[in-house]
Amino acid sequence: MKKLIALFLMLVVAYSGQAQQVCLSTPHTTLLLSAPQGGELRFLYYGEKLSEADARSLPSAGGAEFPAYPAYGLNCPMGTALSVRHADGNLTTELRVEGTDTDADDEAVTTVIRLKDTVYPFRVSVCYKAYRKVDVIETWTEISHQEKKPVLLNQFASAYLPIRRGDVWLTSFYGAWANEARMAQEPLEPGMKVIKNRDGVRNTHTAHAEVIFSLDGRPQENTGRVIGAALCYSGNYKLRIDTDESDYHHFFAGINEDNSTYRLKGGELFRTPALALTYSNEGMGGNSRTFHRWSRAYKLANGTEPRKILLNSWEGVYFNTQEEAMKQMIADIAGMGGELFVMDDGWFGDKYPRKTDRTSLGDWSVDRQKLPSGVEGLVEEARKKGIRFGIWIEPEMANTQSELFEKHPDWVLKAPGRELVKGRGGTQVVLDLAHPQVQDFVFRVVDDLMTRYPEIDYIKWDANMSILNHGSPYLSADEQSHMYIAYHRGLESVCQRIRAKYPRLTMQACASGGGRVNYGLLPYFDEFWTSDNTDAVQRIYMQWGTSCFFPAVAMASHISASPNHQTFRTVPLKFRIDVAMSGRLGMELQPKHMTEEEKKLCADAIAAYKEIRPVVQQGDLYRLQSPYDRLGVASLMYVSPEKDKAVFYWWKMEHFKNQHLPRVRMNGLNPQGRYRIRELNRIDKQPLRMEGEVFTGAYLMANGLELPDTHQVDKPQRNEYASRVLYLEEIK
Ligand code: GLA
Repeated sequence: MKKLIALFLMLVVAYSGQAQQVCLSTPHTTLLLSAPQGGELRFLYYGEKLSEADARSLPSAGGAEFPAYPAYGLNCPMGTALSVRHADGNLTTELRVEGTDTDADDEAVTTVIRLKDTVYPFRVSVCYKAYRKVDVIETWTEISHQEKKPVLLNQFASAYLPIRRGDVWLTSFYGAWANEARMAQEPLEPGMKVIKNRDGVRNTHTAHAEVIFSLDGRPQENTGRVIGAALCYSGNYKLRIDTDESDYHHFFAGINEDNSTYRLKGGELFRTPALALTYSNEGMGGNSRTFHRWSRAYKLANGTEPRKILLNSWEGVYFNTQEEAMKQMIADIAGMGGELFVMDDGWFGDKYPRKTDRTSLGDWSVDRQKLPSGVEGLVEEARKKGIRFGIWIEPEMANTQSELFEKHPDWVLKAPGRELVKGRGGTQVVLDLAHPQVQDFVFRVVDDLMTRYPEIDYIKWDANMSILNHGSPYLSADEQSHMYIAYHRGLESVCQRIRAKYPRLTMQACASGGGRVNYGLLPYFDEFWTSDNTDAVQRIYMQWGTSCFFPAVAMASHISASPNHQTFRTVPLKFRIDVAMSGRLGMELQPKHMTEEEKKLCADAIAAYKEIRPVVQQGDLYRLQSPYDRLGVASLMYVSPEKDKAVFYWWKMEHFKNQHLPRVRMNGLNPQGRYRIRELNRIDKQPLRMEGEVFTGAYLMANGLELPDTHQVDKPQRNEYASRVLYLEEIK
C-alpha cells in the first residue's frame, strides 16, 4: 500500500520542459518548487491550493524565483540560510539537485530533495512533510559531508520563505516572566526584523518562535490571507525577516547560531528543527484553528485526551508542603469535584531539606520531616478520596547546596577557570545535559518516581534558570560552541526515553511559568504552565496571544486567590473562574481560606467544566473581540467539530457608568442550526433574558446577544467586574 502511494506521488512530481517541479499539497494549500536534476532548487509558490494546470503555468505568471535554501558564497549580498566553512577554508557553497525521494503514510507525505555541492562532498537534504488531513507543511534540512576534516557550520537555518511584499503585517509574541505571549502587530518595513532567544534553557518568556504574516494588510481575525510559522525547537532560536530592495520579504527561521558554530564531522548528520507552516485565507482565526488541529492530532502528547481538573499546591502553601496541608488540599479538591492534586515545590531533600529556593535541587528524595508518610502516603490519600496524584520536579537543575552537587560538581555547566555564576536563590546551577551520565540521571529522576510510586498520574517538570555560564565540562575544547545545541539534544533524548516508557503519564512543561511553550518540547508534554501570573485580567491578554498557536487543551489556567499574588489585583471569584474555564481548568490557592459559598461556586464551575470540557479542549476556537482592541470587552468561543455545541466567553475589560460596550457577534456556528442558550456559573439573582431561548446560528453570528454589563447581585457583592459563560446546544 505504502509503495503504491509512493508511486502515485512520484506522478505528482510534474515536468514542465526541462524544469522539474515538486508539488507538495495539503487539503487546501500548495507549496511548489522547481527541482531540475543538476540545477538549483528554487522556491516557486506557497499559498492557496493550485490546480495541476495552474501549477504547470505558474512559472510564466512572473515573480522572482529564489533558491529554496540559499547558501552563502556565490551571491554574497543575498541573505542566506546556510553558511559554512569547508575543511580547506573555502567559504562558498553551491548546491545542486541530486534527486528527490518521496515517502508516504496515512498521516503525511514526506519529500526529500537531495542537494550536493558542485565541488565538495557536502550535502544538504531539504525535507518537507505535508500533512494529509490538516493544512500544515513542516520543513527542515539535513546537512552532512564526507570532507577530510570537520566543516564549520556558521549559519544553519531550518528554512527560508520569500513572502511577496505588499501591505504585509507581522504578528509576533513578546513578553517577560509573568507577562508572557503579549501580541504585537506591525507592518513589515524595509530593514531587518529579528526575533530571537538566547536563554539557553527556556525560550518563550521574552519572545516566541511563532509568527503570522498577514498578506492583505492589518491582521484580521476572520478574513485575509495569512501564513503562520512555528519553529519546533526548545532551545535558542532566531527568526529573521529581511526586507531588502527586492519585491520580497525574506523570512529565515532556525536555531540561533550566536555562539553556536557547529563543527560537523565527516559522516555526521546535522538535522535542523522543523519549521511548521500553514496558509489560510481565514485570517488569524484560520491560522489558529489549523495549528490547534495539527497540535492535538500530531504534536502534543496525548493531544486528544481530556485533561483532568486539578489543584496545584504552589500559591496555596508555597514551600510549606506539610503532610497535613497536602492531605487537607487533597480532601478539598476532591470535595469540589476535582480529579487530581499536584504537590508542587518543597517536598524533597534529605540532608538539605527544601525549605527555600536556595537548596536541594538534585536531591529527589522525600523530606520525611514534612511528609512522614512519604509520597506513598499522599498517593494513598488521593486514592481514598477518589482522585489522582501529581508531583513537581525540576530535574535539569541543582543547587550548590545539595548532595548532588557535592557528589558531582563536574555535572554542571561552568566556564573553565571561572567562578560559577548562579541563578535562583543565589545557588541554582544548570546540569550539563550534553553529558550522557547527566541524561541518565535526569531520566532516572522520573523513572525512579514512577517505579517507586507507579500511581503518580502527573508530573510538573519545571526549569527555573537560564544558562548563565558558557561551558560544558563534558564537551571537548573545540566543541564548546555546541553547548546550547547539545543541551537540547540531551533534553530531547531524555524526553524520548521517558515517553517510550511512560506514554500515558501526564506531563506539564513549566519553566518559571510560560518559558517552554513551544512545539519542540510539546511532543513530550501534555500541556504547559501558561504563566506564573495567575491574575485573571492579565491572563486574558496572555492567553489570547498563546491561543494563536496553542490549543486550550494544553493551556493550563488556574483559579487563584484574590488579591492576586503577582499583580495584587482584587478580582471577584466569578470572573477568575470564567477566565480559568477558557483553558485547561485548574485551581491554585489554599481552599482552606475559602468560604463555603466560594467552594460551592467552584464546585459548580468544576461540574460545568466537565460538561463543556470536550468542546473547550477539542473544539475549534473563534476569537470574537480582542482585548488588544481596547473596546471594553474581550470575547471568544469554542465550537465542537460537529457544530452542535459551543461555549461562549465574555469578559468586561473596563468599567465606566453608562459606557457603550460593543455587542459581540458569534462565529463558527451552523447558520441553520438552532441553539438553546444556557448560562454557566450564574451569580445573578435573575436568569438572563435569553436563558433557555433558542436562536439560529445565523442570527447569533450576524447579531450576537445583548449582555448586561453588571451582575444583578446584592449591594455588598457588587463590584466593577462582569463576565459571562454561555453554553449553546443545538436542538435537533
Ligand atoms: C516556578 C514555577 C511555579 C512553581 C515554582 C516552584 O516559578 O513556574 O509554578 O512551580 O517554580 O518553585
